[in-house]
Amino acid sequence: MIIMSSAHCRDATMMIVIVLIMMTDGRAEWLSVHDRIKQCLRYHVNMGRRLGKQFGNPSGIAGRFVTFIMNRMNGPLYNAVLNEVGNGLDVLDIGFGNGYMLKKLLKNTDSKFFGIDISDDMVRLAGKKNKKYVAGGRLTLAKASVEEIPFENGFDVVYTINTTYFWNDLNAGIEEIHSKLRDGGVLIIVCYTKQMLDRLSSAENYKKYLEHELTDALEKAGFGTELIYITHGRSFYVKAVKNASLGKILD
Ligand SMILES: C[S@@+](CC[C@H](N)C(=O)[O-])C[C@H]1O[C@@H](n2cnc3c(N)ncnc32)[C@H](O)[C@@H]1O
Repeated sequence: MIIMSSAHCRDATMMIVIVLIMMTDGRAEWLSVHDRIKQCLRYHVNMGRRLGKQFGNPSGIAGRFVTFIMNRMNGPLYNAVLNEVGNGLDVLDIGFGNGYMLKKLLKNTDSKFFGIDISDDMVRLAGKKNKKYVAGGRLTLAKASVEEIPFENGFDVVYTINTTYFWNDLNAGIEEIHSKLRDGGVLIIVCYTKQMLDRLSSAENYKKYLEHELTDALEKAGFGTELIYITHGRSFYVKAVKNASLGKILD
């Protein structure tokens, strides 16, 4: 007998609904196999593009859906950040989405958290998901973009997961983060590799940075950097330390 938790049931139901919508196209008519394949391919590309837009600025029901899927796919990326964030720190999440990662960190540490995101709906959703921490003063969220961080605090850690693809200006974002970090503070940027993103139609319009493009930009802004691969080289994170002795971080 298979026993499913309510979370598994929810995941399975969601997947079945998506497959049914994709198969019927909202019409009850028979198409030739050839037409059906063509239609599916067209669907795949169009849906990919629409999903890609949603990942960059999630809104409405589709935004809730893509962030829900994202949370299930990105476990190893979240774990990379979990392993780097300790207790007693001031931490900023750039582009927190539905607030899933913030909730994990709030549960696992006693640090104080701040977050910015450009999506109104995500600010609302993440606030709702973490309302007891907002009420208790351990979490402050704001609608803002990385180039203009609206907090005065000096942060010990700033992290950002799967957001650099959408920033208007990588260098401006990095400089702004640099100005908000304390000396010795750490910036963690987590991304999929360009090679991996090139395979996804949803990522067609993303800004896909090569690893060295990110580390070069960080070092130019005054960070020492270390590059760590995860998920068998399909994703990675750069750990950048403000005003660390030149170039790479030494062990
Ligand atoms: C792919 S989602 C990642 C969400 C979350 N970090 C996660 O991994 O679960 C990208 C998020 O970055 C936000 N975003 C995009 N551009 C941004 C910017 N310039 N400044 C701040 N947030 C941004 C989007 O609104 C969205 O919530």
